[in-house]
Amino acid sequence: MIQMAIMGYGTIGSGVYHVVRTNREILAKNIGEELHVKYVLDIREFPGDPVEEVLVHDVNDILNDPEVSIVVETMGGVGVAYTFVKQVLEAGKSVATSNKELVAAKGAELMALAKSKQVNFLFEASVGGGIPIIRPLQTCLTGDDIEEVTGILNGTTNYILTRMNRDGSSFEAALKEAQDNGFTEKKPDADVEGWDACRKVAILTSLVLGELVDYEDIYTEGITKITTEDFAYANRLGWAIKLLGTSKKVDGKIYAMVCPALVKPEHPLYGVNDVFNGIMVHGNMVDDVMFYGRGAGSVPTASAVVGDVVEIAKNPGKVLYEGWTAKKHELSDIASSRKQFLVRVKEENADTAAAVFAGARRIDAGVEGETAFLTQELSEAEYEAAAAQVPGILHRIRVQA
Ligand code: HSE
Repeated sequence: MIQMAIMGYGTIGSGVYHVVRTNREILAKNIGEELHVKYVLDIREFPGDPVEEVLVHDVNDILNDPEVSIVVETMGGVGVAYTFVKQVLEAGKSVATSNKELVAAKGAELMALAKSKQVNFLFEASVGGGIPIIRPLQTCLTGDDIEEVTGILNGTTNYILTRMNRDGSSFEAALKEAQDNGFTEKKPDADVEGWDACRKVAILTSLVLGELVDYEDIYTEGITKITTEDFAYANRLGWAIKLLGTSKKVDGKIYAMVCPALVKPEHPLYGVNDVFNGIMVHGNMVDDVMFYGRGAGSVPTASAVVGDVVEIAKNPGKVLYEGWTAKKHELSDIASSRKQFLVRVKEENADTAAAVFAGARRIDAGVEGETAFLTQELSEAEYEAAAAQVPGILHRIRVQA
């Protein structure tokens, strides 16, 4: 029998407990022996919940039990979770985590520690919720030079944008629904300001490069400035507005960013709605590959964690993946990255905008007192220089090629 423990009985941790109990037989078949949750660690009590039977409040119960070989970390954050994960790895036990903050900030160190102890630190659930993306990048796609990873990487914001556009919900009402569904971070600023997607871009890019990409180096813009007027123009064009996370190799240099973007119907991410995430990977041989599924939520995310547990259980004593080193990869300045922009301006400034954004196409969406221009392809620096000459710019959104 494989004995495991879960640290953190919140949205994901309780999902892991549920998955292990519900799929007991299939897991036993897939591993070749039974998988049992011996401990669940949390500071809280859960009266009436079956977890009470295995609930503990002291991490030492897990650390000091030689029977426990796999520990799931679903606490979140890089404070106590970081300390406990290090202790677990030091104790020679493998870890499976859904904690993207931890993986983005401390992944290189924890992978090296795991390797030195001949155990594993796996994190499939840290990106894309239930979508398999970490393992495919480390196995199936390793014959390729990965030239681009672009995705809708945050379920909360995709849910909000879908509800605002399709159902006319307000930003606040849609966010509340996302919270009620267990999609959001503890502080939903991390979702709506794009920081969660930023960490996921850092993880994916680090994985592709085999070197650390510091999430703090990634240009990040969230969805808080997106309004119903922006959707009016998107709808007029027949395009969608999505929060995209991208890293792309151009002339050997890596550009990474997170920002809302207008997505055309022919793009594979156009139809990814609600809490779903989509991740498009472009390899130099395979061309485009698309991964799609539930990007947040208790049980889908737990499914990815349990998949890691199964893989660890099936490979005792084997270090499964290299991950990335602590050597920092310097990203290119996005100032030279090129895109079209949709620029909304006050009606009285339309002539100036038309003159400055030479060759731009005017788009009218029936919004009173303003109009918009779809520019030619510009670098970020060229856009900024042009925008500085146009008074009355209300908003600008990049267009995904
Ligand atoms: N808050 C995250 C999201 C959870 O909405 O995508 C999954 O990482």
